[in-house]
Amino acid sequence: MDLSSPIICLLLHSLVFVSLFYCNNSLETRNPLVNQTFQSEDELLKLKETIAIRLKKLNKPAVKTIQSPDGDIIDCVLTHQQPAFDHPLLKGQKPMDPPEMPKGNNRINNFSESIQLWSLSGESCPNGTIPIRRITEQDLLRANSDSRFGKKLPVGSNDRQYALQFVEDGEFYGAQATMNVWNPQGESKSVFSLAQMWVHPNFYGDRRTRFFIYWTADAYQHGCYNLKCPGFVQTNKAIALGAAISPVSTYNGNQFEISLFVWKDVKTGNWWLRYGDKDLGYWPSSLFTNLKNAAARVHWGGEIFNEQYEQASSTQMGSGHFPEEGYKKASYFNHIYVIDSKRVWVQPPKLKNYADSPNCYNVKGGVDSSWGTYFYYGGPGKNKNCP
Ligand SMILES: *[C@@H]1O[C@H](CO)[C@@H](O)[C@H](O)[C@H]1NC(C)=O
Ligand SMILES: *[C@@H]1O[C@H](CO)[C@@H](O)[C@H](O)[C@H]1NC(C)=O
Ligand SMILES: *[C@@H]1O[C@H](CO)[C@@H](O)[C@H](O)[C@H]1NC(C)=O
Repeated sequence: MDLSSPIICLLLHSLVFVSLFYCNNSLETRNPLVNQTFQSEDELLKLKETIAIRLKKLNKPAVKTIQSPDGDIIDCVLTHQQPAFDHPLLKGQKPMDPPEMPKGNNRINNFSESIQLWSLSGESCPNGTIPIRRITEQDLLRANSDSRFGKKLPVGSNDRQYALQFVEDGEFYGAQATMNVWNPQGESKSVFSLAQMWVHPNFYGDRRTRFFIYWTADAYQHGCYNLKCPGFVQTNKAIALGAAISPVSTYNGNQFEISLFVWKDVKTGNWWLRYGDKDLGYWPSSLFTNLKNAAARVHWGGEIFNEQYEQASSTQMGSGHFPEEGYKKASYFNHIYVIDSKRVWVQPPKLKNYADSPNCYNVKGGVDSSWGTYFYYGGPGKNKNCP
């Protein structure tokens, strides 16, 4: 099972990722419990008990519960009871109001925005609450070890491939881009184990496109997805992190886009995240001393995880088509901006391309009057030039 995601990544001393997450698990109906080898019934019972305790701690009490058509359960949790406020430094606090984002070249796309499945029917969380995707027993079992749940594999392993653009050696106080949303197809696997599930943190167990955030304060040693550990304070009641996104773009058909912004509020030092015109929340500077600085480097692009170390993966990145195919066929980022040291949005100077294996996944950029700074990225993975 492989995984593909477009990312916007700000490299401080720490990392903040904002990603759309596409995953593939051909064995989604399999109950991981059934084929696990346990020493004894006792061991299984003990594991289930541990998981029940962990779930109780992870899932906060809901004032309303919404059943999403994709099977997810969305809990509307009082804003001051969200996981971030479990942190000793934030205990007793309430979420801040969103500050005003620096004005400038930032522009919201005029496509209809992709939305989340759980709210399609018109269901919503009440004022004073935020939607949190409920973590299930299955999620924890898939994550193998519950103590590692929500954390990501260290970088630097050769099972990842990137096709991206980046700027480095700068002083950046924000980054934004608009991207079209796809649901790439992944490789099927006949072998499945919980340990491999951990190597590829596919804790959702399906192949929908999801919106998630990930951060780490120490270069991937410890980090978290979404609200799974204290670190991100969500302020928005319309978007559930980790929930599925719909609709997605189709080849030669309608293109669906989202715009993402990550930027620093200089007054508080908090880094805020915006999705379209919605402020989602922030990483508090009191928890991340490194976030007090500017970002030195920003990445935009695609990433895939491949569990076959020896040969190319047939997991698609983005639409699964190469940049040369262009609009409606390849995936793209456009309206790429950074906030510079003068605290204004500018098109990034000296954008560089990076692709691990251009014959498998590539990137190709440009600048024009309607899209500003943009690039196409992605590819099919395994093909005759990428054996
Ligand atoms: C266990 O896995 C094997 C293949 O490894 C499969 O044929 C069998 O159906 C599985 N058993 C259950 C109960 O899922
Ligand atoms: C976006 O808006 C501009 C100006 O109104 C228009 O020319 C363009 O066709 C629109 N693009 C899309 C994809 O709707
Ligand atoms: C919820 O908040 C919005 C925005 O502040 C307000 O317009 C709306 O009336 C509130 N709804 C309820 C039920 O209080």
